Amino acid sequence: MNNMTKNNPLYNIITFGCQMNKADSERMAGILETMGYDATEDPNEANVIVYNTCSIRDNAEQKVYSYLGRQAKRKHKENDLTLVVAGCVAQQEGEQLLRRVPEIDLVMGPQHANRLDSLLEQVFAGNQIVATDPVHIFEDITKPRRESQVSAWVNIIYGCNERCSYCVVPNTRGVEQSRTPEAIKAEIEEIARQGYKEVTLLGQNIDAYGRDLPGTTETGRNKHTLTDLLYYLHDVEGIERIRFAPSHPRYFTERLIKACYELPKVCEHFHIPFQSGDNDVLKAMKRGYTHERYRDIINKIRGYMPLASISADAIVGFPGETEEQFENTLRLVEDIGFDQLNTAAYSPRPQTPAAQWKNQLSEEVKSDRLARLNRLVSVKAEERSQRYLGRIEKVLVEDVNPKDDTQVVGRTEGSRLTFFAGDINKLKGKIVPVKITQVRPFSLTGEALLKRIDN
Ligand code: SAM
Ligand code: SF4
Ligand code: F3S
Repeated sequence: MNNMTKNNPLYNIITFGCQMNKADSERMAGILETMGYDATEDPNEANVIVYNTCSIRDNAEQKVYSYLGRQAKRKHKENDLTLVVAGCVAQQEGEQLLRRVPEIDLVMGPQHANRLDSLLEQVFAGNQIVATDPVHIFEDITKPRRESQVSAWVNIIYGCNERCSYCVVPNTRGVEQSRTPEAIKAEIEEIARQGYKEVTLLGQNIDAYGRDLPGTTETGRNKHTLTDLLYYLHDVEGIERIRFAPSHPRYFTERLIKACYELPKVCEHFHIPFQSGDNDVLKAMKRGYTHERYRDIINKIRGYMPLASISADAIVGFPGETEEQFENTLRLVEDIGFDQLNTAAYSPRPQTPAAQWKNQLSEEVKSDRLARLNRLVSVKAEERSQRYLGRIEKVLVEDVNPKDDTQVVGRTEGSRLTFFAGDINKLKGKIVPVKITQVRPFSLTGEALLKRIDN
């Protein structure tokens, strides 16, 4: 969106990292607009720049320093520039960021995203602020400025209580805090009123949803679980698709699989990171499951929903990982056949146990394993794509194809990007039956069966 009123001050948000950060950025954009700022795509004309940072791997963290350097220089020439570093690097580095880049005005951890307005007011009063203390996240009463007009992210739980030995997230995002089912439903009803068709429920450990909320059932089970939440949210009128991500194999239940099977709006798409296919590595990672348990979950899902789409995350080159252990990861990928797999070479992170270990692998070994895994992932994804050929898929249209404006792009229920000829003005937000005519590893092309549009 461009600045509509020329006189309003301008903001620019640059977002790194995961969907949680993207959702936080949308909320911060909403707050800035409520404060009278307009968005600009050009940081060089912005009065407030927010870097919403990620520290999951070292290269993600380093990016922000190079971006910051440029604007810090600009700040010496222009008085009216406020630099904000938000997100996971902000939480991790805190005051040290100010020592490294003294031009920064505000350092704020992810738990403080909803407080951007009051923090900025303190900055405008002449203070340099670091907001990284753990807080109870206040219910979000702001109106996010969402990027998509079709599909919206909704946080249901913040933080993570796991202690995977490689991961910064528990340090950067704090302890688990579930939102109440009522607050989540109210947000989704509002989203539906605004015309959105799809919601993705988000949490770093979404299967932990509700365990910090009070109440148990007659059988002693926690009253609030992700499964119960799906049933509770299902009847929101106007919302046609519900997704959730990512799932943790340790807590994934058959009750949840059944709910996804029974509830027509819940997409048959599961994102369940496994990280490694080797039990000893999984143990060292402190993941709390075996590869057998993981395989069992996928078999159960496919028992109920044979065509379900399965995606995951995996790490190669974890400290001490032998060639044989790495091959167990390859074997798992070969056997399961993921629709998509996000892969990464292990990156030692500050204040995580695995970073202190002596048995770190060389960069050569890590990048060689990453390349081998990626080759296999593409081959398997291409194989998986074949099952779409000739099938009729329901595609929720999101946008114009950026490379060909005679085409639109959307996603299937399984979240495969799909292109087909059509007019975005007529089709945006519609679910269109599309006959798939071409398949690639991670995307599809088809022809709309326009007479059968259901909307
Ligand atoms: N909560 C999710 C889970 O338990 O799988 C993952 C969240 S994390 C933001 C996203 C992915 O980053 C992880 O699944 C993992 O594959 C990867 N990751 C986390 N720490 C990493 C590290 N130190 N080095 C490389 N990849 C890492
Ligand atoms: Fe990190 Fe593990 Fe929590 Fe996922 S579950 S965010 S990998 S600590
Ligand atoms: Fe990065 Fe923080 Fe997400 S470290 S991946 S932005 S939770």
